[in-house]
Amino acid sequence: MRTQVGIIGSGPSGLLLARLLHLQGIDTVIIESRSRDYVLGRIRAGVIEQGMADMLRQAQAGERMDREGLIHEGSNIAFDGRLERLDFPKHTNGKVVMVYGQTEITYDLMKAHIDEAGGIVHYDAPAVRVEGSDTDAPRIIYEQNGQRMELICDFVAGCDGYHGVARQSLPADKIKIFERTYPFGWLGILSDVPPVNKELIYANHERGFALCSMRSHTRSRYYVQCDTNDKVDNWTDDDFWDELRRRLPPEAADSVTTGPRLEMSITPLHSFVAEPMRSGRLFLAGDAAHIVPPTGAKGLNLAASDIYYLSRAILAYYKDRRTDLLDIYSETALSRVWKAIRFSWWYTSLLHKFDDDPMSRRLQIAELDYLVNSGAGRTALAENYVGLPYEKFE
Ligand code: FAD
Ligand code: DHB
Repeated sequence: MRTQVGIIGSGPSGLLLARLLHLQGIDTVIIESRSRDYVLGRIRAGVIEQGMADMLRQAQAGERMDREGLIHEGSNIAFDGRLERLDFPKHTNGKVVMVYGQTEITYDLMKAHIDEAGGIVHYDAPAVRVEGSDTDAPRIIYEQNGQRMELICDFVAGCDGYHGVARQSLPADKIKIFERTYPFGWLGILSDVPPVNKELIYANHERGFALCSMRSHTRSRYYVQCDTNDKVDNWTDDDFWDELRRRLPPEAADSVTTGPRLEMSITPLHSFVAEPMRSGRLFLAGDAAHIVPPTGAKGLNLAASDIYYLSRAILAYYKDRRTDLLDIYSETALSRVWKAIRFSWWYTSLLHKFDDDPMSRRLQIAELDYLVNSGAGRTALAENYVGLPYEKFE
């Protein structure tokens, strides 16, 4: 089998790339290790930057997002019994974020790319490795129905997440890894109850961090910081709701509506970057190349900015035989990635409980107090949260 761009992974980055290239007449084949239902069942991110929302519109997969997504013009930080609102448009020249679940984005992209445009995705087909990335015809080796298969491509996009094989196919001596593990995780619940507040609340509390988010006016997503080794089985629904309420300011705690879980899971927190994001004709995008702790809601949005740069670079190659954008892909994508890595690390450090040292806590409260009382502090937070601009190319 042959295609122009072989894509490993049908998460948001793989599907978005396939969709954008298809609209420009470029052929793709996606190789995905799991089933379509499994991919759709993963509950993950919920906050979308304007840049990503624009990409989904450009991919002609943004119509339902524009109808059902919730535009948020601010978010709240709770600390020391206070609740402080951050106004996004005021501090960012009018920018906002969109609350719309990753599951819905994946569904919309699958519908547009596979069901309506006939795009090819091989599900239940794990890629094993990429060969020949230093040649003009790199190959994805994968398995399907117990058989070894080969997809020959002009380019390969490794969009196969943190545990994928694309990154491992890069020459080990040419790749540099940066990583940091945090001594806690997030326990998340999804429940069909109205959100406690119309905007998100990020809470710093002496018992640990909590986040109140949502998927719609009737579906809430909440998180509490938990031990790294904690297990979902240790938590009843009531335990979760009690712990969440303890970590919110009293007024918010009193307004929490509780209900049974639709889903409960634990996410470890991790910062990770692999440099460069390219070797020959193999390009990495999204979680395959970098991971952020979820505190700033940047993971999914970084996947979209990588695809912004990669899709333009591939298009320039097929349209004008230009290779300059392919050559600067890694450098350009990483420049934005590192800023999000920094922001997510900083926001995580500011809001979580790292130890029992009372000095650490006082320092966090002092920084939060400074931040909300400073126009410069509010602007720095808001600019990063709504998303830094994408670099434009001629
Ligand atoms: P993925 O979504 O991971 O997609 C990769 C795809 O590749 C998957 O479908 C996988 O099955 C497939 N694959 C893997 N290996 C192979 C192989 N060998 N062959 C073929 N296919 C393969 N971000 C936020 O902003 N906010 C959040 O709240 C948040 N919560 C998260 C919770 C969890 C549990 C996780 C894991 C991530 C979370 N993220 C969150 C991060 C966000 O979901 C990711 O950044 C985003 O999914 C990245 O998209 P991606 O397409 O690059 O990777
Ligand atoms: C959600 C997750 C985040 O990490 C975040 O910062 C905001 C919202 C969410 O899942 O809704």
